[in-house]
Amino acid sequence: MDSDLSLLLQDAEAASEPFPSLRRRKGEHEEFATAVLAGLARPPRSIPCRFFYDAQGCGLFEEITRLPEYYPTRTETALLEAHANEIAALVGMGRVLIEFGSGSSRKTSLLISALRNLVAYVPIDVSAESLQEAAGWLSLRHFGLNTEPVVADFTKPVTLPEFARIRPKLGFFSGSTIGNFTHDEAGDFLRGAARLLGKGSRFLIGVDLKKPENILVPAYDDARGVTAAFNLNLLERINRELGGDFDLSRFAHEAIYNEEAGRVEIYLKSLTGQRVRVLGREFRFARGERIHTENSHKYAVDEFQALAADSGWTPVKAWTDPAQLFSLHLLHL
Ligand code: AVI
Repeated sequence: MDSDLSLLLQDAEAASEPFPSLRRRKGEHEEFATAVLAGLARPPRSIPCRFFYDAQGCGLFEEITRLPEYYPTRTETALLEAHANEIAALVGMGRVLIEFGSGSSRKTSLLISALRNLVAYVPIDVSAESLQEAAGWLSLRHFGLNTEPVVADFTKPVTLPEFARIRPKLGFFSGSTIGNFTHDEAGDFLRGAARLLGKGSRFLIGVDLKKPENILVPAYDDARGVTAAFNLNLLERINRELGGDFDLSRFAHEAIYNEEAGRVEIYLKSLTGQRVRVLGREFRFARGERIHTENSHKYAVDEFQALAADSGWTPVKAWTDPAQLFSLHLLHL
């Protein structure tokens, strides 16, 4: 990072009011600043979707999961309710459950209830607070559950607690978060998970299915405008944390389905010609110019199984709901 940027960051940090309850990972502020300055400077403009999830963004995402148009969360939960016992039988006894992202405790709870002789639950997440919350809720519901949270970015190499290294493991990655990776990143993630979980492990992954545009687009552009607020919160976060002066009324949320690429793409579109300042740097937007903020890839069952196989995993079984909205994949190594 150049020294100008680090001085500007100190000013912006002092001026902003971080949420006291949310302890940010060391370096996250610098990563955010570097990604925003680089992403706004180069065409096509883009900001990585992982920066959606500050305290406000996490709250808005929770709201999204309850929207009538956003089918993934309730469909995946229903799949787990329907098949948890069969999954547990296929997974076998005495495993350590490793969850990537602390996820929705409700879904994890369904899995924990069904698993036989679970040794321990190890959720991995960048946010110590989300981990605490999820682990606390789950220990209340599952008396005697041994929970060993790990604060880490699971897209990078992770160190598991000593006891977990020698035990058979079950990985769990829910919510189709894998869809927010490119195909190459998803392959890298699956290979990294294979190294972490080791030979003999199992992996349960929730993956959103390809489907018609008239279901997909409303799921990412809901009538109440919650997803729009979630997307626009990224500009608010830049204003709060990086001293930006984005006028939110001059940007609009846009969601499209790119059928060829098999993904929903999300953008923030400039409604007028305008100039915006971030950390003392000026960016000019033409009317209609967009900032790309997220991809959400969708996979047919056989496409995802091929990706998993290319990454060293053997598909065991896949479950889908009657309306063919969502899939749960069990893999083994
Ligand atoms: C977290 N992730 C799987 C969500 C998705 O569906 O891609 C994020 C999201 N973006 C807008 N709505 C939901």
